[in-house]
Amino acid sequence: MQLDVFTLVPHAFGWLTEQRPVASVLGRALDLRLFSYRDTTPLRAGQVDDDPYGGGPGMVLRVDVAAAALEAAYGGLPDHRVVALTPQGRQLDQSAVEELAGEERLTLLSARFEGFDERIVTQLASDAISIGPYVLSGGELPAMVLVDAIARRLPGALAEESGVVESFSSQLEGGLEYPHYTRPADFRGWRVPEVLLSGDHARIEEWRREQSRTRSLA
Ligand SMILES: C[S@@+](CC[C@H](N)C(=O)[O-])C[C@H]1O[C@@H](n2cnc3c(N)ncnc32)[C@H](O)[C@@H]1O
Repeated sequence: MQLDVFTLVPHAFGWLTEQRPVASVLGRALDLRLFSYRDTTPLRAGQVDDDPYGGGPGMVLRVDVAAAALEAAYGGLPDHRVVALTPQGRQLDQSAVEELAGEERLTLLSARFEGFDERIVTQLASDAISIGPYVLSGGELPAMVLVDAIARRLPGALAEESGVVESFSSQLEGGLEYPHYTRPADFRGWRVPEVLLSGDHARIEEWRREQSRTRSLA
């Protein structure tokens, strides 16, 4: 998958690219490219944003700057999906992640300050996605959330089986994962459920399914 991120802060992604699962799939199942709007802006002195028409605080990312960045990267406007990250978008969930992870090419647009000129969302992007009903200072963290969530669905990202039974997976009927415990079996009187120490795999499986169902209904 080719995943392109347009941002004002490309160096913010350094940490993410060194961590699993992104590091495991980079250069293999994932080709991650970072583009700075400043590198291709048609304006002087690296300008990328401007005052909002109608007044008000903050600066708005200009549509001509975003178009120039896309055209420089693709030699025209891309014909694959372009996701604008914005609090006003469709809220991200696991089914949206699975859907986007199935694309061969995907572009993410992030903004800062007051956000995008609306024409970026309506004319240059095909999708608008929010990572939740709260406002962050920039689209870099939302883009990283999406890159991480997509990367772990790509072949080679996770140890075999580990991404199969987890929260929101079809294996758990879209519900939440059951609780996990590890050693010690008794810590300050906080004991691990007996069934997990029983060695009876059928009972353990039944207990886990029940826990998953109970949590998902809560
Ligand atoms: C300070 S926010 C702009 C908020 C915007 N003025 C509003 O009230 O909806 C700056 C940028 O951060 C990103 N951002 C902030 N919160 C986000 C969220 N929940 N989901 C996706 N992107 C977000 C977007 O790229 C946004 O344009």
